[in-house]
Amino acid sequence: MFSLQSKNAFITGGARGIGLAVAERYIAAGAKVVITDIADGTDVAARIGAIYLPIDVTSEDSVATALQSAEQQLGKLDIVVNNAGGALIDATVENETNENYQKTLRINTDGVFFGLKHGPAHMNDDGSIINTASLAAVYTVAEYASYNAAKAAVLALTRSAAVSLGSRGIRVNAILPGTHTSPSQPAAGLETHLCRKLAPLGKEGKLADLAGVYHFLAAPESSYITGQSVLVDGGWGLGLSPAAAEALTQDFAGEHHFGYTGDFT
Ligand SMILES: NC(=O)c1ccc[n+]([C@@H]2O[C@H](COP(=O)([O-])OP(=O)(O)OC[C@H]3O[C@@H](n4cnc5c(N)ncnc54)[C@H](O)[C@@H]3O)[C@@H](O)[C@H]2O)c1
Repeated sequence: MFSLQSKNAFITGGARGIGLAVAERYIAAGAKVVITDIADGTDVAARIGAIYLPIDVTSEDSVATALQSAEQQLGKLDIVVNNAGGALIDATVENETNENYQKTLRINTDGVFFGLKHGPAHMNDDGSIINTASLAAVYTVAEYASYNAAKAAVLALTRSAAVSLGSRGIRVNAILPGTHTSPSQPAAGLETHLCRKLAPLGKEGKLADLAGVYHFLAAPESSYITGQSVLVDGGWGLGLSPAAAEALTQDFAGEHHFGYTGDFT
């Protein structure tokens, strides 16, 4: 079950963090994996039994070349994970610099666009493409303005590609991580602190909490799912947890229950 035997996978941003956790999971399930990254992943690849190829996802040529090299080394691909991303998150829309806005879009949105544009030519029919978006695609935080926009665009691209690639049986889905401890998301950071208070599950995610979802969406067991956005966020996007409501209403002098609205009889 959930076997990836005889499947070939291509992962961007695979040298560390989420991409690396996914690569390890795919290898454990029997896949052959190419990890690509702007940082040197030669040693990491050797350690986990993958192949490393350099890539800069902000460059269309670089993405196209890496996909071609991956096919030359492994044969046609079955799984493409457009995962590389990140951002300097520090500005509301009115305070953001154009430079940081454009850079955020290049890494997070263009990178996925290039993978969707060039990936299918190197894939077998009935394959799976998984795009890493973010809870930030659907949950707005003022200082996340550029990142909110970049990741929301990933959801739109996911749906467009799912519609156009369905005739080949290629499925395209997006995963929306909440807060998962990784090199770029430290456990001691502000977002993790907020996550522990606001997410109904009361804790941040681990990379292992995500890897299984990437595995499911790559495996034949998800063969009738396409164009979807899968939140893996401990419920943070759902709404107000009791702990958050309690913290926010410390200064409310009235009775701490919501009571009736209207005539309940
Ligand atoms: N960790 C989280 O809590 C979280 C939450 C939501 C979304 N995400 C998304 O998940 C993805 C992976 O995040 P992570 O936490 O593993 O981060 P990370 O920083 O640990 O890993 C990102 C990897 O991408 C690589 N990279 C950066 N720019 C690149 C480029 N131009 N071309 C190729 N590779 C590049 C980096 O070298 C790094 O290895 C990103 O798209 C991020 O936006 C992460």
